[in-house]
Amino acid sequence: MTILYSGIGELVTNDPTAGDGSALGIISDAALVVDGDRIAWVGQRANAPDADESLDFGESSVIPGFVDSHAHLVFAGERSAEFAARMSGQAYAAGGIATTVAATRAASDRTLAGGVGRLANELVRGGVTTFETKSGYGLTVVDESRSLQVASEFTTETTYLGAHVVPKEFHENRDAYVDLVTGPMLDACAPLARWIDVFCDKGAFDVDESRAILNAGVAAGLIPRLHAGQLGPGAGIRLAVELGAASVDHCTYASDDDLEALAGAAGTTVATLLPGAEFSTRAKWPDARRFIEAGATVALATDCNPGSSYTTSMSFCIAVAVRDMNFTPAQALWSATRGGAAALRRDDIGVLAVGRRADFVRLDAPSYIHLAYRPGVPLIGDVVSSGRLLTHRP
Ligand code: NIG
Ligand code: FE
Repeated sequence: MTILYSGIGELVTNDPTAGDGSALGIISDAALVVDGDRIAWVGQRANAPDADESLDFGESSVIPGFVDSHAHLVFAGERSAEFAARMSGQAYAAGGIATTVAATRAASDRTLAGGVGRLANELVRGGVTTFETKSGYGLTVVDESRSLQVASEFTTETTYLGAHVVPKEFHENRDAYVDLVTGPMLDACAPLARWIDVFCDKGAFDVDESRAILNAGVAAGLIPRLHAGQLGPGAGIRLAVELGAASVDHCTYASDDDLEALAGAAGTTVATLLPGAEFSTRAKWPDARRFIEAGATVALATDCNPGSSYTTSMSFCIAVAVRDMNFTPAQALWSATRGGAAALRRDDIGVLAVGRRADFVRLDAPSYIHLAYRPGVPLIGDVVSSGRLLTHRP
């Protein structure tokens, strides 16, 4: 069955060959036709073909569904007291993860799945049509593999993060934990994951450990991505480039050398910036202009997790990225859609063009700029995911 969506005042396609010729490929007075889960036609409404059904979007702006390429949704408990302490001056440290690990180990599969379902629901209501999620709060063979089992009920973009931190029972013997992560834990988790990730930072894993863990993951058929440069400068970003990782995430402390490496790897390794983390840890803001001017490919993601960034709102991330990280509104939207798709090595999403997945959002606004211009306002009108209209038309 085909559906014609008409009355689109502004259509952001992310297809530079369409519309105004910018990276956002904006078509004014547009329409699009969906056939099943795919886009069958995109263009000016005056030229739109007939369809079985039609829906008028009342001159709204329509954008590609957000692609959240970095989230940690499988966990139990919450850490609001830790957040309050930080807002009273305490620094963020990787050690807080242990609190969530204890709660996660104690939770049933059903509780964990309920938590992911709640957050996935928030993401979708906020216009996210594809999201990645990681393990990393289990840190035992059983708890990491059941975390990934739960995650796979909600997304195909699952990431094995057994190397989130060294759990306390291994504090006197880090090497044994790395052996576990690269041995029996990897064997149990690889069939349930697409990606492998490591938290390569102060208080977590060093560059040599991270390299060994990612290489073991690659040998088991996983594709690497990396947390690096969140808590301080280091060689993690260059390690991600060296290994051809799909993405290196945070990059708060990226040096000029790191930027040069990212620019050279722009077709391979995306730099994913996570404004929610800087916001919630009162860290310094990375300057997106440095990354973009250097030639790096940049994504924006929520990093939703109970410690450093407990938000599922991509609109919030865009507003903060524009206000405090020197993104233009256009760059921020591109990074939260097509950039996220690049970070997940997906070309079926993040672009509204014929043959791509019909994932798009009607904003209660005439322009995508309102995502940053009207911060905190619920502008996500309708969400269409794989051709299905999911949300709330009044
Ligand atoms: O991406 N940096 C490492 N992991 C998460 C934080 C996890 C936590 O504090 O629970 C992040 O920010
Ligand atoms: Fe993270």
